Amino acid sequence: MKSMRSWLFVPGHRQPMIDKALGLPADVLIFDLEDGVPEAEKDVARSRVAAALDGVRGGPTRFVRVHDAGSSELDADLQAIARAGLQGLVLPKVQGPEDVLQMCRWLDRHETRAGISSGGVRLLAIIESARGLVQAPAIASVTPRLVGLMFGAEDFALDLGLFSHPGQGLVNYARSALAVAAASGQIRAIDKVFTDISDPDGLAVEARRARDLGFAGKAVIHPGQVGAVNEIFSPTEVEERWARRIVEAFERRADEGPATVDGQMVDRPILERARWILDRFEEEG
Ligand code: COA
Ligand code: MG
Repeated sequence: MKSMRSWLFVPGHRQPMIDKALGLPADVLIFDLEDGVPEAEKDVARSRVAAALDGVRGGPTRFVRVHDAGSSELDADLQAIARAGLQGLVLPKVQGPEDVLQMCRWLDRHETRAGISSGGVRLLAIIESARGLVQAPAIASVTPRLVGLMFGAEDFALDLGLFSHPGQGLVNYARSALAVAAASGQIRAIDKVFTDISDPDGLAVEARRARDLGFAGKAVIHPGQVGAVNEIFSPTEVEERWARRIVEAFERRADEGPATVDGQMVDRPILERARWILDRFEEEG
């Protein structure tokens, strides 16, 4: 599957942003029908997003954030956007595996009728409550449709009763726990939005920290955030050179037992990581 480093939220009622987003180098667009759209604009957003899905193919992968499993708005969202151009759904406020399974059952019944190949709609679950985080390991392995878990920091902070902006302290535990849960289901962890669009340095610091915790990508809210996130979640030239030296050293050897490369011990897991980095580099570099 294509890279999924940058996930750009695009408010579904804002036509100029939809048009612009389709031409941006974001890996995934999240056309939003949920909290980024005011109540009075919900129907306008549904029809604009539907039209965007019907538009010319190519460009970023197209996901839509619908309302949560308990919302009375969800049906109208799905009726509007179940169509051939839909590649994925972002499920907000996921509390447990059942929320995801409910969506799978709906898709199993409706997706081929909507002109989508069977099993074709991917899912991303936003974990944004204490309950959701506790259930995250079970959520992560509930269906092969699920490509990742995203951390929704603002709702999470609200649930925990945090006074300050989420970013430090307990939220670090939550991000780590989410990354481990995602890895346990062999899916991606996608980091939270960085809300200060005028602070590229702050964005880069936060994105690098997420990468170090095991995240594969990050949500973004503005075109100016896309490039940095794509770059930070790709292997660097230094990592690529390191990986190539290791793979080449092992190509000259008869077995994959422990060896020394540049004075460092290298064994099977390190060799496998080097191969994985080269694969990523060829895909994204
Ligand atoms: N997707 C696509 N295009 C976007 C965009 C987005 N998320 N955010 C901004 N743009 C476009 C603007 O339309 C503008 O286009 P133009 O130059 O062709 O006129 C350009 O990028 C520059 O935008 P700028 O003027 O710097 O920002 P703004 O004041 O128009 O918008 C926000 C700022 C924060 C309101 C806007 O970025 C936004 O709505 N982001 C998404 C927020 C969201 O979805 N939140 C809910 C999920 S967390
Ligand atoms: Mg939210």
